[in-house]
Order: sequence, then structure tokens, then C-alpha cells
Amino acid sequence: MSAAPLLALRSVSKRFSAVQALDTVDVAVHRGQIHALLGQNGAGKSTAGKILAGLDAPDEGHVEIAGSPVWFGGRGDAIQHGIGIIPQADSLIDDLTLVETLALSQPHRVVRRRTLTAKLRSAASQAGVPIALDTPARHLSRGERQLGELVISLAQDARVLLLDEPTSALGPREVDTLFDRLRAVADTGVAVLLISHHLADVRHVADTATVLAHGRVVHTGPVAAVDDETLARAIIGDSQAPPPPPPFRAREPGEDVLVLSGVTATCGDPVPVRDISLRVRAGEVVCAVGVAGNGQRALAEVAAGRITPASGTVSGGRRVAYVPEVRLDALLPGRATWWSAMVTRLREPAFTRRGTLDTAALVHAAGALLDRHDVRPRDSRVAVTALSGGNQQKLIVGRELDSDPDVAVLHGPTQGLDLVATRAIHSEIRRAADAGVAVLVISADLDEARQLADRVVVLSKGRVLADVPASELDDTVAWRLTSGLPAADAAPSSVAEDDAE
Ligand SMILES: Nc1ncnc2c1ncn2[C@@H]1O[C@H](COP(=O)(O)OP(=O)(O)OP(=O)(O)O)[C@@H](O)[C@H]1O
Ligand SMILES: [Mg+2]
Repeated sequence: MSAAPLLALRSVSKRFSAVQALDTVDVAVHRGQIHALLGQNGAGKSTAGKILAGLDAPDEGHVEIAGSPVWFGGRGDAIQHGIGIIPQADSLIDDLTLVETLALSQPHRVVRRRTLTAKLRSAASQAGVPIALDTPARHLSRGERQLGELVISLAQDARVLLLDEPTSALGPREVDTLFDRLRAVADTGVAVLLISHHLADVRHVADTATVLAHGRVVHTGPVAAVDDETLARAIIGDSQAPPPPPPFRAREPGEDVLVLSGVTATCGDPVPVRDISLRVRAGEVVCAVGVAGNGQRALAEVAAGRITPASGTVSGGRRVAYVPEVRLDALLPGRATWWSAMVTRLREPAFTRRGTLDTAALVHAAGALLDRHDVRPRDSRVAVTALSGGNQQKLIVGRELDSDPDVAVLHGPTQGLDLVATRAIHSEIRRAADAGVAVLVISADLDEARQLADRVVVLSKGRVLADVPASELDDTVAWRLTSGLPAADAAPSSVAEDDAE
């Protein structure tokens, strides 16, 4: 390991009005290493990542590259300094190929397509990623899109890669592929910073771990030198230790509430659902698992009544709670948090006065919702985009489960949540089912399925491959069903041929 880290935060502090997001933080990422950044929701991880990526500036302290201080004027500067990012919600544009996306990031000069293709191809081979360079992004699975972002960063000569919770929407097999490729890239001398909530992932792939709590570094050191319990304690800190999950209680399900019969439906997802039949009874939790990109989004949208099936029928409840896969789809990004908290209730008489919205009443009710679901900060007048990812997620799940639904369609309800918040959301989902809600959870996480579900359905290429009681979902069956399957029909898996300019 060289003495000077490739990329570092030096005594960095950052404040957002009432919140000290980072407080004299030091993090050093070395060449050839994978460095995990851990911490509870709101601990300051993304803020640290944004400062390193040139997307935000520190109030105090500075970023250092190979021992020298730098001040980024924006993301462009950081790219020039070799800082690549792989965002969680990827930045690829559906209609564009990777070559075209890379061309967009070259504003200063006209670069020949052939040159860009050659750069991408060499980056793909550095990472050992057999990816289609000339396929529009809409035909790539979630996992392939992330690998595409990785290849684009490398083609921009990234010496450092920053990943903010890259695995929350990936299945086990895609996570393994991503980590495998990250390791290969690190072995070529790149430094990797990986933001994650998953201790198992950290243990599996990272060399070093730093834990943030309330914006301060509370632990840093080699992963091999620390046990899981110590890491978990550093993460959870003084907050309440999460209660053990309640024992599984087989409920006696009621009537059919959500029924899909022979449904074929398509949305923006590359994989439509085809001829799906599925029923969820009152008080029952059904979990749809499978490799991401096998029709999950179309299933969620059609079950929630957001899209109309091309054929077949969906009969649902009177009020459907819906948590979409992409958080921003459920929020009003340009507005204060109370708008997003109350958007489903604006028509209630309690919130109108003489024909106009009663803002004070809405802010008051939103505050109660933030309290109930432990959304931080508690002030609903701050912009919803100022909430950390996990707190946005808690807000959406809380709002939807509070809406007195009879059906709940929850796509990745615990993505981006820390351990404490995950347990809290699991309990809420169980409580909703106990109260008679028919719950359909779509998740890439088998442990989540095991913990929550009465029944598990396995999705592959838009079809239901198996529909089994959760108790029959043993490891072998689960692994074979969900990971031995190709990711998607339309996903090409070889490097495309060079095309003419
Ligand atoms: N633009 C902003 N305006 C105001 N507050 C902000 C802004 N960005 C972040 N914050 C606050 O800073 C704190 C740290 O947020 P950050 O997004 O870094 O957390 P995180 O560790 O990434 O959490 P998560 O695991 O939920 O993604 C939070 O309290 C958040 O509300
Ligand atoms: Mg974050």
C-alpha cells in the first residue's frame, strides 16, 4: 500500500441547516483496495460520497488526491481527476447505447465513435465485463446497467470508483458478479469506496471498513481485524438495539382480495409479465422473488393498478397501497416533505378550508406521520430531497401502510434501509397483514422473503415459475430457482461488434 491514499477526505465537515451531516471526517481510500463505508440511515455516507465525487463541497476540510489537496468546481472536475461514480439509480438513458452515453459526457470536443468504442472495449476487458456496447440501455437488466456504468467510468479513466448502495435492487447472483468485477478492477490498481448496509457484503468484498455515526467516524480499520458484532455495534451505536424478529405466526388467510388471472402486461421494464395468475388473500403476505429484471416492475405496476393489462384480468381492493421500485416516483421532489407525506390525503375534508388546502393542518398531520415512522429530520417543511435515501423510503412505506389499504403492493420496501429500520418496516408489514391487508412484496432479498412471506412466488422471464409456501423455500430450492436462471430475454451477453461511424 502506498503511503498517500489515492483519494481522501481530510477533516471534512458539512452542515445542512440544523443537521451536522459530517463532522471532521477523515476517510482514506487506497489504491487496489475496496473500502466500505457503513452507518445508519442519515449517518452521512451519501454526503461523504457526494463530496468525493465533486457533487457537493465541504464547509471545512478538503478532498485530497494522491496526497495533494483538490477543490472540485463540480462533477466535471472530479471526472477529470479520475473519480468515477456508479449511482444506485443508474444514469443511463433508455434509448442510448453505452457508446452514445459516453459520447454525451465528452462536451469539450468531438470524439470519433470508433475511439469511444475502443475505449469502452478496453475498459470492459479491464473489468472482465462482457457487455453489449451497442444495445440501448432499455434492453439491459438492472445488473447489466450497473456493470455498464462501471465500464463507462473506467473508459473515463477513473482511478477511483464510488458506489452508493449498489446492491439493494440486485439478486444474489448479480451481487456476486458485481463484486467479482469490482475485485478485478481493484486488482488493476483502482481504489473503490463502497457504501453499503449489508455486513455480509462488506465481509465478502471489502478490505477496509469505516463506520459513520451522526456524521462522525466511529470506527475504521481492516475488515479482517474486526468481527461482525463490533461493526454492528459501531453502526447502531446508542440507538435501540433492534428487537429480534417476531416469531413466524401462520395466519389463517381470509378471502381472495388481489387476484391476477392470465395477466400479460408491459411497462418500461424490458421484461413484461406473461400469462401470470396469482392470488393474495386477506391477511396473507406473498413475496415475489427472482433475479432483478425478470418482470418485477411490470408485476408491481399491474398488481397496483398503475398499468392496464394487455390481456387477462386484475381484481384488487378498494384502496391499494403502493411502494414503487424507484423512490422518486412516489415523492414530490421539488417540494417540502409534507407534500410527499400527505399527497394521498389532500382531498380529505380535514385538510381543506374554504376550498383551499389547509397548510397548517397538513404540516401538523405530516409531523405525526414522521413521528410514527421515525423519519428524520422530523421537520416536514424541509425539502423531501434533503432526506437521506433511507428516510425517504421510511416516509413512503409509512404513508402507504397508514392509508388503510386492503391491498399493499410493496416493491423493495426495505431497499436502502439500515438494520433497525428494516426490522421496523418488517414489523409494520406483518401488522398490516394481521389487520387483514393482502400484501404482495416484490423483493430481491431471499432472507426478506423467508422472514415475511406466507407464500413465495418465483418470477423468471415474466412468468411465475413456482408458487410455494414460504416454509418450503429452503436454501437449495431458493438458490436453484432464483440464481440458476438467465437474467432476461432481451439481454445480450457478448461485446457487440464495432459499427461504422
Ligand atoms: N441537501 C440537503 N439538505 C438538507 N439536509 C441534507 C441534505 N442532504 C443530506 N442532508 C441531511 O444530512 C444527513 C446525512 O444524509 P446522508 O444522505 O449523507 O445520509 P446517508 O448516511 O447516506 O443515509 P442513508 O443510509 O439513508 O442513505 C441527513 O440528516 C440528511 O437529512
Ligand atoms: Mg445515502
